[in-house]
Amino acid sequence: MKITVFGIGYVGLVQAAVLASVGHDVMCVDIDENKIANLKKGIIPIYEPGLTPLVEETYQNGQLHFTTDAQRGVDHGTIQFIAVGTPPDEDGSADLKYVLAVAETIAQHMSNEKIIIDKSTVPVGTADKVSAKVKQVLNARNIELDFDVVSNPEFLKEGAAVSDCMKPDRIIIGTENERSRAMMHELYAPFNRNHDRMIFMDVRSAELTKYAANCMLATKISFMNEMSNLAELLGADIEAVRHGIGSDSRIGYQFIYPGCGYGGSCFPKDVQALIRTANGIDYQPALLEAVESVNYRQKQKLFTHLTNHFNGELAGKTIAVWGLSFKPQTDDMREASSIVLMQALWQAGANVQAYDPEAMEECQRIFGNRKDLALVGTKESALKSADALVVCTEWSQFRAPDFELIANSLSHKVIVDGRNLYDPQLLKERGFAYYAIGRGDSVKREN
Ligand code: UDX
Repeated sequence: MKITVFGIGYVGLVQAAVLASVGHDVMCVDIDENKIANLKKGIIPIYEPGLTPLVEETYQNGQLHFTTDAQRGVDHGTIQFIAVGTPPDEDGSADLKYVLAVAETIAQHMSNEKIIIDKSTVPVGTADKVSAKVKQVLNARNIELDFDVVSNPEFLKEGAAVSDCMKPDRIIIGTENERSRAMMHELYAPFNRNHDRMIFMDVRSAELTKYAANCMLATKISFMNEMSNLAELLGADIEAVRHGIGSDSRIGYQFIYPGCGYGGSCFPKDVQALIRTANGIDYQPALLEAVESVNYRQKQKLFTHLTNHFNGELAGKTIAVWGLSFKPQTDDMREASSIVLMQALWQAGANVQAYDPEAMEECQRIFGNRKDLALVGTKESALKSADALVVCTEWSQFRAPDFELIANSLSHKVIVDGRNLYDPQLLKERGFAYYAIGRGDSVKREN
C-alpha cells in the first residue's frame, strides 16, 4: 500500500520504518530540510534501539522515501498519517496548530480520495476539527473529494518503540466508515496475525482511549509514590509492600515501581491535557489532579533528601548525578526528574557532576555550558571529589556499582537513590547514609 507520513519525529519515523519493513511503500514528509537531508544520509535524530538499521535497510531497498515536498507527499499515499507534535499550550492543553496545518496542506494538494489518520496524541474532538479544516479548504478550492479522518493512537514506549510497533498489544481504530475499516485491516494485516489485535470503535472513543491508557498508568505510579511516602513515615518498606500487592493478579506487578516521579513526553503532558479537557467541559477531574500533584511533589524528593542531610548547606558542594534521561534506553530528558534536581541544586549554589550513557549531548543542548555543570565521560569520574551521589535513572550499569570505589571517591558517604536500586541493609553496613524511596531502613537510620 502507498502511505504518507507527515511529521518525522519520534512517532512518525518509527511508524514509517516499521510499515516500510513489512513491504508498504512509505513516503516521509517533514518541513525540516536539515532533518530530511540527514535521514537520507542515515543520520537518525533520536536514539532508539533497532531504529537505525531499520531506516537504513528500508531506505536502501526503496520502501522508504524522504521529502520536504508536501505535494509529492500528498500525491503518494491514499493513506495519509498525521504524526506531528502536539506540544502543551501555556495552560497545559494540547496545541493543535501543527496537526491542523498538516490537515490544511493535505486538503490544498489532494486530487483524489484520501484516508487521513490522526496518529498524534490529540484531544477528543480533534478528528472533527481536522475534518472541518479539510472540508473548508476543499470548499475554497471549489472541488469535492471523498475523505475520512480516522483516529489511530500510538502506544509506543521509548526504548522499545520498534518492537512495540512490530508487535502491538492492540491496534485501536476509530472510524465508522466501512471503506476506512477495510483499508485499516489491509494496512495492519502484517501485525495482526495469530490473534486479532484490531479494536474498532467510534472516533471519539479511540481518541479518549489513548488518554485513558496513559492516565491509568500514571495513576498507578502516583499511587505507589503516595504509598512510598506513607511507608517512609511509618517505618515500612515499600519494596516489600510492592511485592505483597503485586501478587494479586488484579493489581499485577507492572507499573507499580515507586521512584522519583514519572517523566517523558507522554505521561506529564497527557495527564495535564486531559485535566484541561475536563475543565473545558466544566468537570473537575479530582483524581487526575491528585496524580499530577503527587508527581510534582515526588520530583522534589531527591533534593529534599540532600538538603536535609546537609542541613540546608549545599552551597559550594558538588553532587554526582547518575542518569539524566527520564528512563533507561533513551536519550530523552523531557520532564526528567534529573532536571528538577539539578535546577534545585544550582539554585542552592551547588555544582553538578553528571554522567548518563546516552543523554549527555541532550543535557548539553538543554543547559549549554555553565560552570556549575560538568558532564563527565564515565560514572566513576562523576564521583571524583563529589560530596554525594544521586541516582536519577535506573540504567543497568548503575545496578551493581563498586561501593568501595564510591566510598573512596565521595567526600561524604551519601547516596540518594531515586530508583530503589540498592539494598539498604548492605549500604548501612558499609557505612553509607542511604536515602531511597519509601524504604523503612533508610528512615530508621535517619532517626
Ligand atoms: C508511555 C507509555 O508506556 C506508552 O504506552 C505511551 O505510548 C507513551 O507513554 P514512555 O513515556 O516511553 O511510554 O515511558 P514509560 O516506560 O511508560 O515510563 C514513563 C515514566 O514512568 C518514566 O519516567 C518511568 O521512570 C516512570 N515509571 C514507570 C515509574 O516511575 N514507575 C513504574 O512502575 C513505571
